[in-house]
Amino acid sequence: SRRGRLPGRQDWSSWPHYQAAASGFRGYWYPVAFSSHITGKPKAITLLGERIVVIRDGGKAYALKDRCPHRGVPLSYGNQQFPGTISCPYHGWTFDLETGALKAVITDGPRSPICGKVTQPTYEVEERLGMVWIFVGDGEDAPPIDDQLPEELRDNPAVIGARIQSRVGNWRFACENGYDEGHAKYLHRTALWRLFKAMPVWNETRIVRRGRWIFRVQDAQHWDADFPGLGRWSNQAWYKLKPPKQVANIGNTGSHRKVNPAIAAEEFPGFASVSMPGVLRIVYPTFIHYEFYVPVDADNHLYVGVMANFEKGIRTLPFYAKYLGAVRWLFHGQFSGQDKWMVEVTDAPPERLYRPDDSLLQWRKLAEEVTEERAERLKITGDLG
Ligand code: FES
Repeated sequence: SRRGRLPGRQDWSSWPHYQAAASGFRGYWYPVAFSSHITGKPKAITLLGERIVVIRDGGKAYALKDRCPHRGVPLSYGNQQFPGTISCPYHGWTFDLETGALKAVITDGPRSPICGKVTQPTYEVEERLGMVWIFVGDGEDAPPIDDQLPEELRDNPAVIGARIQSRVGNWRFACENGYDEGHAKYLHRTALWRLFKAMPVWNETRIVRRGRWIFRVQDAQHWDADFPGLGRWSNQAWYKLKPPKQVANIGNTGSHRKVNPAIAAEEFPGFASVSMPGVLRIVYPTFIHYEFYVPVDADNHLYVGVMANFEKGIRTLPFYAKYLGAVRWLFHGQFSGQDKWMVEVTDAPPERLYRPDDSLLQWRKLAEEVTEERAERLKITGDLG
């Protein structure tokens, strides 16, 4: 197997599931919109290449395949004529939101014989963190969404600052960019977010797996370096603070006196971690930043950036002030815009990887293993093929 061989020229054939997942991995919950944006007015979305209509009725969000089985018109152009249903705009076929059953055909009278014979595919929907999540699978029962959420987000009260953006580029490039070790030091050296933060030139790192996550452990940081025949290079500038004293094995929380208890309790082995189906987690002393890379289709994704602060009541105010005053613009804005740019211009493999790309290799390996396990599971239970 060529898996994990470095350095070397790579295509993605060492990871066939990963290679095949251009439009995303099936069998997961994906955040698709803010809850407040899902109303009684049907909204069209695309997720893993599937066109889906999302609508709220009686306080609950529903999702159905966005293609009328009659003549193929999007149901999302329709509206509600009866509670608990959606009607196609063309001839008034009317589907039950919960079951997808064809309940009425307005233009064929109250006893249309086709009623009960047609069922529109539906999707399971949940709401968490102020967002609507949809499960895309292969006919299997959806696992509880709480099994998929980052544990600390599931188990602790938190306040959230979030941003959802449609972005160009394959979701895998976005996820790989998020977890990419080298870019954090170089691409982002000009980020305003980093204006007063000294950054190492390079780190000595290794990847460790814990449960569903892989973590990047930093064994040593190098704040400047002599490049033979070229000269000295560092990320420091007069306006950047001196490097902190700690060796950053525990990442950003290492030198900090006051680490939030919910974060400290997790004892994260590194501050950057990633898990399926494309979730990045960056741990800071008092908050955690998550990025969910949601596949729209092979060429587009949703960037869902979430900052979580594990506080309650009045203690959330400093976080909100910091988020709205700075983080939203500098981090979710300009910093993340640099990532967006790179994801747009990354070319498909072949690629020639280097030592820090072990991050990417280990992520692909994780994706491959987990997907293989799912394929085996579905084969055994007969849900697939
Ligand atoms: Fe939808 Fe005819 S196309 S009712």
